[in-house]
Amino acid sequence: MSFKTTGVSVTQKITSQHGEWSSRFAFILAATGSAVGLGNIWKFPYITGENGGGAFVIVYLLCVVAIGIPIMIAETMLGRRGRESPINTMASLATEAKAHKNWRYLGWMGVIAGFLILSYYSVIAGWALSYVGKSFVGSFSGEDASTISAIFSDLMNSPVEQIFWHSIFMLATMLIVARGVKSGLETAVRFLIPTLFVLLILLVGYAMSTDFYKQGLSFLFSPDFSEIDADAVLTAMGHAFFTLSLGMGAIMVYGSYLPKNISIAKTSIIIAGADTLVALLAGIAIFPLVFANGLEPSAGPGLIFQTLPIAFGHMSGGWLFGLLFFILLVLAALSSSISLIEPAVAFLVENKKIARTKACIVMGFSTWAVGVTVALSFNVWSDVSIFGKDIFNLLDYITANLMLPLGGLCIAIFAGWIMKPEHSAAELDLPDTNYFKIWKFLITYVAPTAVFIVFVHVIGII
Ligand code: TRP
Repeated sequence: MSFKTTGVSVTQKITSQHGEWSSRFAFILAATGSAVGLGNIWKFPYITGENGGGAFVIVYLLCVVAIGIPIMIAETMLGRRGRESPINTMASLATEAKAHKNWRYLGWMGVIAGFLILSYYSVIAGWALSYVGKSFVGSFSGEDASTISAIFSDLMNSPVEQIFWHSIFMLATMLIVARGVKSGLETAVRFLIPTLFVLLILLVGYAMSTDFYKQGLSFLFSPDFSEIDADAVLTAMGHAFFTLSLGMGAIMVYGSYLPKNISIAKTSIIIAGADTLVALLAGIAIFPLVFANGLEPSAGPGLIFQTLPIAFGHMSGGWLFGLLFFILLVLAALSSSISLIEPAVAFLVENKKIARTKACIVMGFSTWAVGVTVALSFNVWSDVSIFGKDIFNLLDYITANLMLPLGGLCIAIFAGWIMKPEHSAAELDLPDTNYFKIWKFLITYVAPTAVFIVFVHVIGII
């Protein structure tokens, strides 16, 4: 076993210096925990609402199947073969493939993307945390739409409140990451994921009991392709990467903690399936409530915060449902945020030889500081506009729509064109070679071409 941090002796590396998942189920839980988060429950409904519903959902599902799953398999495979932080993994795999060392910059881009995503992710998770508190004290009970909307605007207008909750969320994230792979990440997700499923099913059950269940379903599943333009397709594709945690090394670093004998293809399909299921369940739970209360599907990032409390405020048992819902959201966000920062922490531990706790303090503090500017972008700095976007929207656009698909494109090119097929075949260990051929075709041609075409179209319309 080799612990060399910039090593070239990749093939001998059997485990990672940071530890290993204790079982296949533990990996599935952790990766599903990373995938399922605000992306599914907060972002999927609001971008679906903004982009007209059904047609957007279909493009997103196509992207998950044709681009997301093959890239998830590739990213996990690269991680397990490299067994280091994404930067060092890419460097040593490039050496193994006799390719240029500059592939390590793919790892760097991922570390930066994760850092930037976490900075705004933590602010939104902070909103959810504050809503746990508000639900608990019964702020929403019996209130009408305008009062609920005023509660949300109050939060938006208060830098102090947002920064407070953002700080708590960052602190919780860093505490879990500091405890390391097994005791930290694994224990956390073991508890989080099952709870999440139970709570979501409860909420869907409530939505089914409303008169607007059919209308919600038809919004989500009857496509109207006239609603879709190149930018909507880019958003759908970017979201496929975002929701599956792809393109920035999170899944790569989780893959590096994966024991040797576990089938990567099978677990990737399970994880992508679970993630898609949660997003669709969230949509099914949310849109009937939106319509039942005459609310706007296109309300933007505030959608769930401005709409759901009205429903919770009026339904019987709404206090409990509302409280459960926001707890669920925070837990889901927490099991995702830990994976956004793990690549950077693993890198600092490997290359700067600093202790895990110290790496967490350094990364946690810098992410927190960028997050503060995001919290300010909703109030004091709402006029600050860069490329026509405020700080939050700019960070979201650059990371989810550009950096993740670009990272995914590079991962696909590396796995499909640079890495020796005998190495990927050995690592994937697919029982039937036809499965390997299908994956190889998707990763070599389909995924890169699709990402490329979407990029070209978007540049064309700008
Ligand atoms: N997938 C998570 C969500 O849907 C967010 C997330 C976690 C993520 N790790 C990531 C997004 C890595 C992109 C890359 O909320």
